[in-house]
Amino acid sequence: MTTVKSRKPESWKIFDDIAPTYDFLNHFLSLGIDVLWRKNFIRNLPSRPNLVAYDLATGTGDVALTLAKDPKIKKVVGMDLSVGMLEFAKTKAVKRNLTHKVSLEVGDGVNIPKVDNSADVITVAFGIRNFPNPQESLINMKRVLKPGGRAMIMEFSLPKNMIIRLCYLLYFRHILPFIGNALSKNKDAYTYLNESVEEFPYGKDFTDMMEIAGLKNIRIVPLSFGIASLYIGDAE
Ligand SMILES: C[S@@+](CC[C@H](N)C(=O)[O-])C[C@H]1O[C@@H](n2cnc3c(N)ncnc32)[C@H](O)[C@@H]1O
Repeated sequence: MTTVKSRKPESWKIFDDIAPTYDFLNHFLSLGIDVLWRKNFIRNLPSRPNLVAYDLATGTGDVALTLAKDPKIKKVVGMDLSVGMLEFAKTKAVKRNLTHKVSLEVGDGVNIPKVDNSADVITVAFGIRNFPNPQESLINMKRVLKPGGRAMIMEFSLPKNMIIRLCYLLYFRHILPFIGNALSKNKDAYTYLNESVEEFPYGKDFTDMMEIAGLKNIRIVPLSFGIASLYIGDAE
């Protein structure tokens, strides 16, 4: 039987397939809220200048390109295993005249292909739940962060309020997979999205994993009633 877990090592192939419709469906299915969510990365950047950032599972590059516009950022490296998604990110970087600040590379979010103590900031938006080994990824984030560096991980979570949670689950389990699968012309990409979100640890279960990785000063910023969360942890 195909389980969500068994699909994770090759989940990036699903994104190769849906890359052409990814941005449109992201904004459409989230009613544009995803754009506002990503701005939280900028609000929570460390306060010093000349920051080097790695954006893991960068996909079509929305976080990398948002970071690059901030004057505190000197350089962003966006990494992903899906060449299809990276192609769209590259086109967007050219259109927005940001190629001097952004480079886009094939790179694994678990075994991050960067040397120790080389980043001030690591971001991952809606990527870590697709990784086959999220704990190992967090350990590697801590490894590549400089002392004083910051990891920021955004991921879906479930709202605490029961009524909001029920409405959200109705949308997430039934409406979103139906529209997403139909418009992306992939028979189950958006069913995988729903299943991968519901089985992924959130809240304290996730911050425990950050603690095991050695990150400090860990905090959670809830987004839109807790539909998503931004987890922040520092390297000391
Ligand atoms: C839901 S998309 C998120 C993309 C982007 N961060 C955003 O906010 O729109 C998840 C991304 O994770 C990537 N991915 C999955 N497994 C990966 C891995 N092991 N290493 C790097 N990227 C991976 C997929 O290719 C896909 O682009």
